[in-house]
Amino acid sequence: MEYWKRIPDQEAVREGAMLAYAALRRHVQERPKETCVGLTLAAAGIFFWKYGSDIRHRYFAWVNNRFNDLKHKEYEDFKRKVFSCLMDLTSHDPKLKEEKTLRILEIGAGVGANFDFYPNNTRLIVADPNPYFEKYFYENKAKFPNIKIETIIVAKGEEIDMVKSNSVDVVVTTLVLCSVTDIPKVISQIKRVLVPGGKYIFVEHVKDWNRKDHRLRRFVQSLLTVTGFWPFFFDGCHLNRNPLPDIDAVGFSNVSSKQDYAPMPAWWMMVAQPHMRGVATK
Ligand SMILES: C[S@@+](CC[C@H](N)C(=O)[O-])C[C@H]1O[C@@H](n2cnc3c(N)ncnc32)[C@H](O)[C@@H]1O
Repeated sequence: MEYWKRIPDQEAVREGAMLAYAALRRHVQERPKETCVGLTLAAAGIFFWKYGSDIRHRYFAWVNNRFNDLKHKEYEDFKRKVFSCLMDLTSHDPKLKEEKTLRILEIGAGVGANFDFYPNNTRLIVADPNPYFEKYFYENKAKFPNIKIETIIVAKGEEIDMVKSNSVDVVVTTLVLCSVTDIPKVISQIKRVLVPGGKYIFVEHVKDWNRKDHRLRRFVQSLLTVTGFWPFFFDGCHLNRNPLPDIDAVGFSNVSSKQDYAPMPAWWMMVAQPHMRGVATK
């Protein structure tokens, strides 16, 4: 009321409001169908603005699980090559060493696409910010009774301060750095939690490095990403990243990595075919 009293020309404001109301009424009467469509779109927009992120998280967890069910053999073999280093590792933890097993932290584990690659009795810590993965994760985990889940952390890789420094033998990310908000922060968390000599295993899709022969793919990767189309449908995934300089910069004692074109299960996934995979040692 106080605010209303401070308005100098109240009559003009009242008149303007009446005019706007009359115009709106006329519009509704003359174009009822368009008004209905407009109101429905506005309601959908408000609904999506409020609940969109939640819906997308649910949808992405479901989609990811469907992909995981397909298990493309050639792609699995492509990944398996970097995981083979796990067979020669021994744990820093005397008890786990005696049991001939390892403590592994998987960041962005999703539905659990990598159980197949972990040695028997692995102690697994998982961090993923999307809570809707958990149900699928446990469904898939049921096929691997020899893997023991130590903790599931619903958090971004950037925010895993609760994992003790120098406490895990191996950290794994597969197809995750394309989605994280802050790559250098995630990599420095990875280095922090690894024991000295511990391994960081990564398999990530990247921007095509071949400017000469794959100009079209580079263009499509950038276009789908900067328009927000790909990140919208694939939960923040970017096709135009290359996290290798960040892995190199954090100060691992050794980084061994390879760029390669991964075998893809479908033609439309060729935009994510350029990959880098490797192992960094703390
Ligand atoms: C494409 S999925 C990959 C899932 C699984 N690693 C695989 O190889 O199938 C990307 C995963 O990264 C997770 N993610 C997204 N942003 C993240 C972040 N900032 N920190 C950790 N994980 C993240 C998503 O929730 C999702 O589980």
